[in-house]
Amino acid sequence: METRIFESKESVAKAFCEYLVKLIASKPTVHIALSGGSTPKIVFNELAAHYSHQIDWNKVFLYWGDERCVEPTDSESNYKMTRDHLLSKVRIPEVNIFRIQGENNPESEAVRYGRVLDEQLSMVGGLPQFDLVILGMGDDGHTASIFPDSIAKWDAPSNCVAVAHPVSGQIRVSLTGRIINHAKEVAFLVTGIGKAEKVQEILQNQPSAKAYPASLVQPESGKLIWFLDQEAASLL
Ligand code: 6PG
Repeated sequence: METRIFESKESVAKAFCEYLVKLIASKPTVHIALSGGSTPKIVFNELAAHYSHQIDWNKVFLYWGDERCVEPTDSESNYKMTRDHLLSKVRIPEVNIFRIQGENNPESEAVRYGRVLDEQLSMVGGLPQFDLVILGMGDDGHTASIFPDSIAKWDAPSNCVAVAHPVSGQIRVSLTGRIINHAKEVAFLVTGIGKAEKVQEILQNQPSAKAYPASLVQPESGKLIWFLDQEAASLL
């Protein structure tokens, strides 16, 4: 596991874009699970504006680590955020985009999307394997859409699960731990002072961290990079 600390959200975004360009250039095809959230939004804007021309988008296949169960045109949709800030600005073939269909019944969509992963990704050890999973972390230590009060869903014996947001009750579809930790590489994009306590507890292996789903992100490959700004890293 590696921790990279940068001055600001913007410099985290630039550094991650450089990492992503190199990763994509190094492989014949790249299957990536995207995250929602404010830091990925900054990354998508940076990627589209300054790095897109360095990427052969025909070899990039995009998925989502989680999605809200809303229409793809809803302002809450992670797909819509990605469409607005990245997909509408780069020349990625539509057939390379595999969105979680949030408008469907959550439980059946979790099954359907789990099958999409089995069909589209390389199967390694009986499980579909991403080249890269991009994650954020909530102030409460959630990641993807696995929350502390639903942490047992991390270990669900399926590729995806339907989960309710602990406050709003909004249903979401999320990858499970067996898929996230099976990825060749995982990148955490975590910025802002609100994350500092959880980042400290997790990266310093404090006992309290066990309650946070983000602490369960431990890729079998060992390739996990935390991209942090100084605020999120301020207690390290
Ligand atoms: C979502 C994201 C979620 C996000 C965290 C961090 O659907 O909201 O997948 O897991 O990454 O909530 O979000 P911020 O980066 O905006 O703090």
